[in-house]
Amino acid sequence: MTDTTDVRATPAMPRIGDPAPAFTAKTTQGDISFPGDYAGRWVVLFSHPADFTPVCTSEFMTFATMEEQFAAYGTDLVGLSVDGLYSHIAWLRTIKDRIVYRDMEDVEVTFPLIEDITMDVARAYGMIMPGEDSTKAVRAVFVIDDKGVIRAIIYYPLSLGRNFDELLRVVKALRTADAFDVATPADWRPGERVIVPPAGSCGTAKERMDGDVEGVECVDWFFCTKDLPADEVEAAIRVAS
Ligand code: BEZ
Repeated sequence: MTDTTDVRATPAMPRIGDPAPAFTAKTTQGDISFPGDYAGRWVVLFSHPADFTPVCTSEFMTFATMEEQFAAYGTDLVGLSVDGLYSHIAWLRTIKDRIVYRDMEDVEVTFPLIEDITMDVARAYGMIMPGEDSTKAVRAVFVIDDKGVIRAIIYYPLSLGRNFDELLRVVKALRTADAFDVATPADWRPGERVIVPPAGSCGTAKERMDGDVEGVECVDWFFCTKDLPADEVEAAIRVAS
């Protein structure tokens, strides 16, 4: 059977390494010009399908409760849905006044929530996935660095709430990779060993395998790690409060 999918009909989506698409928008915290207003800061730009829905409510309460933890790593939060500003304001007030989830209550969302009733921003970021829902954004996450470059993209479907510890881990890992010119292995957390860059930049493959590069241990020529204490990571990626 012929595949009739026309890839040209699929809107271009920003990719890792691309500049974050620029836009201006109204938010619950006033107008923003993105990413210009955030120059010099990292940002987690994330979309949710709809205000006044339960999974989104649990996500907003969790994210709002963790806002200071992200700020400690120089990272701001910006939310978006295709709802209007008055819906956003009413929903966030309801969350504060009425909703209890896990041990969270009286939660005030103080980061900006973008109004995108035209869906212009959601489309520019590839947040509308018609196979899932053509009138709502999926749960998209864009981690954007201090130069306005997209560094990580994560998508979840409508039914699945995100893991916000993982999003904080992503920010810490990216900032650590930048600060120390290393890569981070599966499930890495600050304090665990990191992957050193390819041979050449840190000893030759033979020197590394022979144990001649101080602090570097290789289990094979392509798999070399070194210790990176948590306090060194924190000193490099945490911002002064
Ligand atoms: C929710 O956040 O609960 C939700 C939103 C849209 C579709 C399904 C669930």
